[in-house]
Amino acid sequence: MSEQNEHFYVTTPIYYVNDQPHIGHAYTTILADVLARYHRLLGVPTHFLTGTDEHGQKVQQAATQRGVSPKDHVDTYVTRFTDLWQHLCVTNDDFIRTTEPRHTKIVQQVLTDLYNRDEIYRAEYDGWYCVTCERFYTEKDLADGLCPEPGCHKPVERITETNYFFRMSKYQDWLIQYIEEHPAFIQPDFRRNETLGFLRKPLTDLCISRPKTRMSWGIELPFDHDFVTYVWFDALLNYVSAIGYGVDDALFRKWWPASMQLIGKDILTTHTVYWPTMLHAMGVPLPETVFAHGWWLIGRDKMSKSAGNVVNPMALAENYGVDAFRYFLMAEMVLGQDASFTEEGFVRRYNADLANDLGNLLSRVVRMTLSHFDGRVPPCGELATEELQLRDVTLEAVAGMRDAVGRMRIDQGLGGLAGAVREANRYLELRQPWTLAKQGPEARVLMGTTLYCAAETLRMVSGMLYPVMPAKMAALRGALGCADGEPDYSRLRHWGELASGTALQPAGPLFPRIQPAAKQDPAAKGAVGAPKSASKPKKPGKEVPVSTVEGIVSYDTFSQLDLRVARILSAEPVEGADKLLCLQVDTGGDSRQIVAGIAKSYEPAVLVGKHVVIVANLAPARIRGVTSQGMLLAADAGDQLRLVTVECGAEPGARVR
Ligand code: ME8
Ligand code: MG
Repeated sequence: MSEQNEHFYVTTPIYYVNDQPHIGHAYTTILADVLARYHRLLGVPTHFLTGTDEHGQKVQQAATQRGVSPKDHVDTYVTRFTDLWQHLCVTNDDFIRTTEPRHTKIVQQVLTDLYNRDEIYRAEYDGWYCVTCERFYTEKDLADGLCPEPGCHKPVERITETNYFFRMSKYQDWLIQYIEEHPAFIQPDFRRNETLGFLRKPLTDLCISRPKTRMSWGIELPFDHDFVTYVWFDALLNYVSAIGYGVDDALFRKWWPASMQLIGKDILTTHTVYWPTMLHAMGVPLPETVFAHGWWLIGRDKMSKSAGNVVNPMALAENYGVDAFRYFLMAEMVLGQDASFTEEGFVRRYNADLANDLGNLLSRVVRMTLSHFDGRVPPCGELATEELQLRDVTLEAVAGMRDAVGRMRIDQGLGGLAGAVREANRYLELRQPWTLAKQGPEARVLMGTTLYCAAETLRMVSGMLYPVMPAKMAALRGALGCADGEPDYSRLRHWGELASGTALQPAGPLFPRIQPAAKQDPAAKGAVGAPKSASKPKKPGKEVPVSTVEGIVSYDTFSQLDLRVARILSAEPVEGADKLLCLQVDTGGDSRQIVAGIAKSYEPAVLVGKHVVIVANLAPARIRGVTSQGMLLAADAGDQLRLVTVECGAEPGARVR
C-alpha cells in the first residue's frame, strides 16, 4: 500500500446507464471500495470516485427503446447504480454523472483550449464505425472485416462525414517512451505489452465529434454547434472534472495524479492510449496506474443478455448477504485474470472460509469465554511454542494482507488471513480448552491463554477483513468487545492489544452454513437473471385460456411473441447450404445472429442496412451447425421470399405489435 504517498485517489470506470448493473460492474466498484477502505485503515487520505456515463449512442438508443427522452432515461436509470452501491456498502466519496454542469462545463473548457492550440482540427472522415464500441476504425484496424476490439468483433459500418479530430497520432512516440519508462503506469504487465503491441501500428488521430444529425445526445462542441462531443472524450474527463480541474486548483492538486484507475480489460485502449495523450495535450500529468482486471465469466461463458446468464448482484447479496458476496468476489478473482462465477463455487467458498472456519472460530471463543470466564477475555499466560506459532502466522497474515493490497493481489492476502483462521482452529483442537475446563487451576490458566490467543487472532484478522466485509466484521468485533469499531492498522499489526477483562458479547452465528441444494435451478433462486419467461413460476392449476374456435389464438397467445425491428448488419452464405444466409442483426444496442432461408431470394449485399422484423424470443436453434437466435418474417412471392421490412423511423429494437 502506498503509505508513503500523501494521498490515494481511486477511480472506477463510469458505467453506461443503458441497462441494469451486473456482477461485472459490482466487481470493479467493490474492488475500488476495498482499496479505498484499506487505505483509510492505514490512515492515508483517500478519495474514491465512481459515476455514470450518460451520453452517447448506447444511452440514446436505450432511451428511444423505452420511448422516453435521454434525460428522463438517465435520471431514472442512474438510481439503479446509486441504489446498488448503497446496498453493497460502497463508500465512494463522490459520484459523477456526465450530464452534470460541473462536468459538461469542463469538457467544453478543455475542448476550447485544445481547439485554440490547434490540437483539434476539422476534416472529412471516411472509414469504419463500430456502433457497440462507438469507435472509428481504419480498414487496417479491422479484424476480418469486423470490429477489432477483443470481446466485440461485431460488424462495422462505413461512414463518410465531416468531423473534428484530436491530434493523437503526433503523441505516439512520446506515449511509447512514457509507457516504457513508467512500468507502473499500465498494470498488469501483460496489459502493458498489449498496449505497446497496439502502438506498433501507426496511431491515427482521434475523431472527437459526432454530427448532431446522426447522434445528438452529447455535449455540444463549443466551437461548432452542429456537433456533439464523442462520448469517450467526454467520459474520460470525468476523472479530472470531478476533482476540480479548471475550477479549483488546490483541490485538483490534492488528488491528482490519480493513484489507481481501475478498469476492465475491455476498455484498455481508451484508458492507456486516448486518455494519456489527452492529458499530455492538456499539460496534465498521467495517473500513476491504470489497472485492467479480467473478466467475470459465468461458468465458462461470457456474460451476455442474449445468453440470459447475466448475474444480478442485488439478488445474490439478497440471498447470501452483502459481505459474503463482497468476500467471494475479492477472494476468487486473481487480479488481472478472468474468473468464473458459479453459484456452486460461491456456496463452497462461503461454507469453507466463512461458515466453517471464521464463524466457527468466533462462536467457539465466545461460547467458552461466556461459560468459563464470565464472558470476560481471560488473562494471557506465557506463550509456549504453540502460542508463538499462532501469533507468528497471524502477524504474517496481517502484514501479508497489507502487502497484498500494494501488489494488487487481494486474493492472496485474503488467502493468508483465511490461513490464520484455520491455524487458530487447529490450535484450539490441539489445546482442547473444552477438556482443560474440567481439570485443575493450572489447566485453567492454560485454558485462559488459549482463549486469549484465539480471540487475539480473531481481533487482528477481523480488522484486516473489515474493508472487505465491513458489516460482518463490525459485528464480529462487537462480539469481541473491541472498542475501536473502525479498526486502525497501528493496533492491528501488534499482537497482545486485546485487553484482558474485556467483556465479550454473545453473538449469533455470523455466517450460517448454506445447505448446498442438489442441482438447484438458478433462475428459481433468483440469483441469476435468467430470461424472464423462465424465471416466472407457473401457477399450478391455472390453465392458459385456450380459444374454442380451431385455428384461432387468443390475444394472450399472440402477445407472447416478441416481434422486433432489427437492422441487418451483415449477411454471409452458410457453407454447404445454398438456401441459407447467416445474418448479424442489430436489435437495438445488442447484436445477434440469425440464420435465414433467403439465399435464393436475396444477394447478401442488398440486405445490409435493411430494417426487418424478427421474432426475438424464439428459442435458439442450431441450423447446419450455425446458431440462430430468432427468425425473420417474410412473405411468399411465387418461388421467392420477400422480407417484411419497416419504414424508416422505427429504430432497431422497436416493438412490432
Ligand atoms: O465501458 N467482468 O461502461 P460499461 C468484470 N462507460 N468486469 C466487468 C464485466 C465482466 N464481465 N462487465 C463489465 C463503459 N465490467 C464506459 C466506461 S470510463 C471513462 C467509461 C466492468 O458500463 C468493467 O470495469 O460498459 C468494465 O470495464 C466496465 O464494467 C464497463 O462498463
Ligand atoms: Mg461495455
